[in-house]
Amino acid sequence: MTNTQKLNGTVALVTGASSGIGEATAVALAEHGAAVAIAARRKDRIDALAGRIADAGGTALAIEADVSSQASAEALVEQTVADLGRLDTLINNAGVMLLGPAVDAPLEEWERMISVNVQGLLYCAHAAIPHLLRAAEDSPRRIADMVNISSVAGRVARSGSGVYNLTKHGVGAFSESLRQEVTSRHVRVSLVEPGAVATELASHNRPEIQEQMKGRFGGIERMQSEDIADAIAYIVTRPWRVAVNEMLIRPTEQEN
Ligand SMILES: NC(=O)c1ccc[n+]([C@@H]2O[C@H](COP(=O)([O-])OP(=O)(O)OC[C@H]3O[C@@H](n4cnc5c(N)ncnc54)[C@H](OP(=O)(O)O)[C@@H]3O)[C@@H](O)[C@H]2O)c1
Repeated sequence: MTNTQKLNGTVALVTGASSGIGEATAVALAEHGAAVAIAARRKDRIDALAGRIADAGGTALAIEADVSSQASAEALVEQTVADLGRLDTLINNAGVMLLGPAVDAPLEEWERMISVNVQGLLYCAHAAIPHLLRAAEDSPRRIADMVNISSVAGRVARSGSGVYNLTKHGVGAFSESLRQEVTSRHVRVSLVEPGAVATELASHNRPEIQEQMKGRFGGIERMQSEDIADAIAYIVTRPWRVAVNEMLIRPTEQEN
């Protein structure tokens, strides 16, 4: 492992770690010395990632979980603490983005976004908070972190992305409220709002929606998952007195 080792002795849980931003974040936190629990539904992908982290000298635990199930989210947090001993850092990253006009939209898509982006994040947060408070009290770093992944879509609403906007605006509101509640107890709650990142996220949309999205982002150089992982690693490796509350990160060529 090549990085600063600032997270030695800590345990991080990354949801949605089977691809994209979550996968890159798990690697980055492991490089900083954290033992990482990596969660998603695609077990083969997280098993392979755990293998790669271990091969590089890190510690990783792959846990199959569907965060939209309260029981599964709670079991995920509890298994992390049982197997790795504690929980210092939660990266609430799992999410889906299903765009298109509200008129005649498949209700199932709306329900899926709310169940993963909102309920899933809340289930993980609820289960993790007691452990994060404990970690902040007993660790030499005097700090614990929850990083919630929102989006530019959590700041700006657009025609054709109303329910995704709803979920990410909700993540922002919850994060700021929770931040105020727990910051004096040294649990930092941070919000990261990426613009376009080259991941699998858009590929779950209907073909006609994917065509429209190409029109919007086709001409710009999108960010890589590692760019966002880098920002997340920066946030959680600050000294305890520094809380990065919010980070909005767009590709240079993305205007809005
Ligand atoms: N890419 C962008 O342009 C962009 C921009 C702004 C914000 N974001 C946000 O960044 C986060 C990560 O997205 P990404 O771009 O990295 O996309 P991605 O490659 O599609 O990754 C999404 C991750 O979420 C997991 N996931 C989905 N449903 C889940 C469930 N029910 N339970 C557990 N895990 C679940 C997926 O794993 P499984 O399918 O294996 O479960 C996958 O690991 C999302 O919250 C997204 O909204 C992305």
